[in-house]
Amino acid sequence: MLNNRNILLGITGGIAAYKAVDLAGKLTKMGAKIKTIMTQNACEFVSPLTLRSITHQPVITKMFDLNSEIEHISLADWADIIVIAPATANIIGKVASGIADDILSTTIMASTAPVFFVPAMNGHMYVNPIVKANINKLTELGYFFMEPEAGMLACGYEGKGRYPKNREILYFLLTFLEYKRDLTGKTILITAGASQEKIDPIRFISNRSSGKMGLALARAAHIRGAKVKFIHSNINDEVPEYLDSYQTNDAKEMYDTVMKESSKAETIIMVAAVADYAPAQYSKQKIKKSDDLILNFKKTKDILYDLGKKKKTGQMLIGFAAESEKIKQNALMKLKKKNLDFICANDLKVTGKDDTKILLLSSKQEIELSGSKFSVAHQILDSTININKK
Ligand code: CTP
Repeated sequence: MLNNRNILLGITGGIAAYKAVDLAGKLTKMGAKIKTIMTQNACEFVSPLTLRSITHQPVITKMFDLNSEIEHISLADWADIIVIAPATANIIGKVASGIADDILSTTIMASTAPVFFVPAMNGHMYVNPIVKANINKLTELGYFFMEPEAGMLACGYEGKGRYPKNREILYFLLTFLEYKRDLTGKTILITAGASQEKIDPIRFISNRSSGKMGLALARAAHIRGAKVKFIHSNINDEVPEYLDSYQTNDAKEMYDTVMKESSKAETIIMVAAVADYAPAQYSKQKIKKSDDLILNFKKTKDILYDLGKKKKTGQMLIGFAAESEKIKQNALMKLKKKNLDFICANDLKVTGKDDTKILLLSSKQEIELSGSKFSVAHQILDSTININKK
């Protein structure tokens, strides 16, 4: 949550300005105090009154407003973070060049708070070498940029320049306010979801898994700077574009993909509910209903067990164990049998929910973690990969 956080929202003049209204609403609902600065061009797209009504806080549009008691220095000092969403090529260029000629650019210049840009613009503009050079320069200076999405743009072009989903912006902000980019340089492979083993063209067997926990871990690790390889199977959620993701269907495909990608990963977190059995034979034609159907199943390969057998020095293996009984005892058995460094044990009752409770076990430790899956994901990363930094 964002209780008592002061967020200065800068809105610049692009069509995505209307999406910043929803962002302001979401941040306000999460408990943050939002003061907004709108450039003159932004006011062409949305009304300052809209922002004022949503945030219940001042909206500043002019540098010299005799009716306003707020001026740029006090705003600059007040902010815990400055979020520019959407950020046009113009504001990025101004900040990169040290230009302070309006209330927004002057406030950014006068603040020591972290600045988070959400660029949104025409695709050709985004790849323009001048814009690229400005973004690179600011990134080196410690400003943060979220990558725009690719797709159909409001101007009618296809390209990379779309304003990202507000939900994803929130995950970035929640992380930035608590963590540094402390996983930079690490490569982490994360699996999620449930494999589906086909019986015929319409039927399959699978496990119950929403994929939310694995996705939360992938997001959290990516935002903290890690290079994430996200291998998933039938998850009930949209995979963010910023993740390097691989879609798989059955246990064999997941096995092959994990084995191919695992050598470069220092840490592997197997969250996926991989089917333990697959039909011994696949029927190309739909099996017609007659009497009771008897199927034969063959055992699938255990990915984590095989990874454990060939674990390299320095590689960290983390497993999950969803259990319906004797949770700790069963999880500890899997920790040992699969040669894991950590195992996250949970009760099957949390499957599909947004909140979770996990017992994180190693040969030496036992830690209880609870909260939203995103917050638990951060806690898992803290207690495993970043344990030495605490
Ligand atoms: N796992 C795997 N490959 C499989 C089955 C499981 O890599 N074929 C991984 C899961 O991703 C998880 C861990 O092993 O991280 C434990 O999975 P779980 O299903 O709880 O345990 P199993 O070893 O399959 O044992 P059981 O089903 O008897 O509880």
